[in-house]
Amino acid sequence: MLTIYPVIAGAGIIISIISAKKKAPFYNYIGILMAMYGGLKSVEFFAPPLPGQVILMYMAMSVFTFIIYFSIREEQFQAFLRPMRTVLADDSKRIPRILIMYILLPVLAGFITYGKVMPKLAPPATARIVHPEPPASITYRGKSINILGIENPLRKDEAAMAVHIEAGKKVYYQNCFYCHGDDLDGNGHFADAFNPRPLPFRGTDTIAQLPEGFVFYRIAKGWTTLPAGSTPWDSSMPSFEHLLTEEEAWQVTLFIYEATGNKPRKM
Ligand code: HEC
Repeated sequence: MLTIYPVIAGAGIIISIISAKKKAPFYNYIGILMAMYGGLKSVEFFAPPLPGQVILMYMAMSVFTFIIYFSIREEQFQAFLRPMRTVLADDSKRIPRILIMYILLPVLAGFITYGKVMPKLAPPATARIVHPEPPASITYRGKSINILGIENPLRKDEAAMAVHIEAGKKVYYQNCFYCHGDDLDGNGHFADAFNPRPLPFRGTDTIAQLPEGFVFYRIAKGWTTLPAGSTPWDSSMPSFEHLLTEEEAWQVTLFIYEATGNKPRKM
């Protein structure tokens, strides 16, 4: 079914070019709409599909906009209406009229209704892996860091821990709480807008299950380097590599553990 959309788009482009040359605005109009519809649907080939509602709104607006456009000049509007007039009223066009009014349109309406009513046999959605295997090493601003099994380097200096936690708190409330919540419960004020939702750090299901290197990696890279098992990559988790220094990223990691009373998993 999917492959038909580029064909519709291509046919639409060809029809609109030929009809523009031949000064046939009605067919030009049909061609433009076909090209737009096929094009919007073909987005699926390289990006997540556009929501049906968006396409519907866009097409409805285009249908009216182009009618206004074609009706600006009187003689063009007459030419635009001519094919419809001849088919609907001309005695010489009785057979096309019967074909269109009594066969094509009812079949089309039936087809659309059938498509809407038919239950869809979609394969079950594949589960998105929430905690994929972390890569062994990542680069942070070009510097290679081995993250497998490492603990937060800031934990080495017990005396400075309080300072780092305080700094991490600042980083958190400047960058993360919009999504992850001011109580670190995943209920930030943007949270309802995202699917998947930002994860809570409280409780024992998220960061408590993770080694600290993995959490650091998620903060550094966000959704951007998740492996194939985590498709679709529709997570809104940003990559903070270029917004936070390496130390700040470790500080906020420290903070989200300390503030929730969680301990990182040891590998
Ligand atoms: C725009 C919203 C948004 C912001 C801002 C944001 N996150 Fe996230 N974050 C998410 C979403 C959504 C997820 C869950 C989906 C995923 O795992 O990619 C997530 C997941 C995570 C995870 C993975 C947790 C787990 O259990 O796998 C960590 C760690 C994390 N975020 C830390 C942070 C930190 C620290 C900041 C601030 C420096 C931050 N996030 C800012 C949206 C956000």
